Amino acid sequence: MSRSIRLAVIPGDGIGPEVVAQGLKVLTAVLPSDTKLETQEYDLGARRWHATGETLPDAELESLKQHDAILLGAIGDPGVPSGVLERGLLLKLRFAFDHYVNLRPSRLHPTAETPLAGRPDIDFVVVREGTEGPYTGNGGSLRTGTPAEVATEVSVNTAYGVERVVRDAYERAQARPRKKLTLVHKNNVLVHAGHLWKNIFDRVGREYPEVTTDYLHVDAATIFFVTQPERFDVIVTDNLFGDILTDLAAAITGGIGLAASGNINPSGAFPSMFEPVHGSAPDIAGTGKADPTATVLSVALLLRHLGLDTEADRVEAAVAEDLAARDGSPRTTDQIGDALAALVSRAA
Ligand code: NAI
Ligand code: MG
Repeated sequence: MSRSIRLAVIPGDGIGPEVVAQGLKVLTAVLPSDTKLETQEYDLGARRWHATGETLPDAELESLKQHDAILLGAIGDPGVPSGVLERGLLLKLRFAFDHYVNLRPSRLHPTAETPLAGRPDIDFVVVREGTEGPYTGNGGSLRTGTPAEVATEVSVNTAYGVERVVRDAYERAQARPRKKLTLVHKNNVLVHAGHLWKNIFDRVGREYPEVTTDYLHVDAATIFFVTQPERFDVIVTDNLFGDILTDLAAAITGGIGLAASGNINPSGAFPSMFEPVHGSAPDIAGTGKADPTATVLSVALLLRHLGLDTEADRVEAAVAEDLAARDGSPRTTDQIGDALAALVSRAA
């Protein structure tokens, strides 16, 4: 059966276009011959904003919606005021396309560098809520710029929003060999949101008797990420805690050049968006030093989301093989992309 994938591509700024080119190279190499890839590129990000003042016009949002998935490189440069692109483009996409699951897997490959002693066995996935918490823009400031300035940033937590992401996390835990799910929050201090999360976590858990559950305060979780990361299998947490924890997760599993993510709308009503966790890295843009592996692993998440599990497995196996063969001699972004594309084609 032949099929086609309509993929929207947002290369973005800095190293974004460099790593996205490698992601597309590997994607093209791994797809079966009866699967056609139709890509449409979108000029969004800092460059567009500098040129026209636009972040994400409605026409583009509408056009993006017509795709099966989105591949994004990175957005941002030091010349854009903080918040403009984060709120006007990245968060706008997540909210408009209801990306309520922000999926961030972490695995320590046998040869990847880790600052942790003793090479712990790390293989967990963080399911971060993507549409609520303190990221909704519910806040404001009064007497701005005066010594009496007041600022609020309200954390929004709805039973609907929490239940759907908690359910998704239970499903993912149920499907993994260890079947363990940890809720991370701070319910000893953030009692209102914390109780909502904990009650829903416990209630939904009764429908998943095979899944072992655990609860950690976010501060304790940061300790265990460093001292005992092997205790984690699937973690479910709110938007802000998940943002911070996953940077730590990247740091202990080989760095930001390997960390992949998916902004997922599990219902399929809107296209899901896949992107490396890292940003546009203006300090190395144009030097060929960017590691495209995080983007290639995001392509694996994209393939899995579209039901192409065999192809996703092949991309992940290629990355594992490439990491195992690294001997510390420097390679360019392009060379790593070529190596990974060759590995996935060979496996066919
Ligand atoms: P960054 O992730 O761009 O860079 C942090 C450090 O990691 C830099 O030293 C960079 O050279 C290095 N690095 C990042 N990706 C790498 C890769 N693939 N290979 C090798 N080294 C890599 O974060 P930073 O510097 O805080 O932000 C730079 C810009 O990116 C800002 O404008 C920021 O707003 C934006 N940003 C965008 C994100 C997105 O598009 N989703 C996420 C994070 C930041
Ligand atoms: Mg972050």
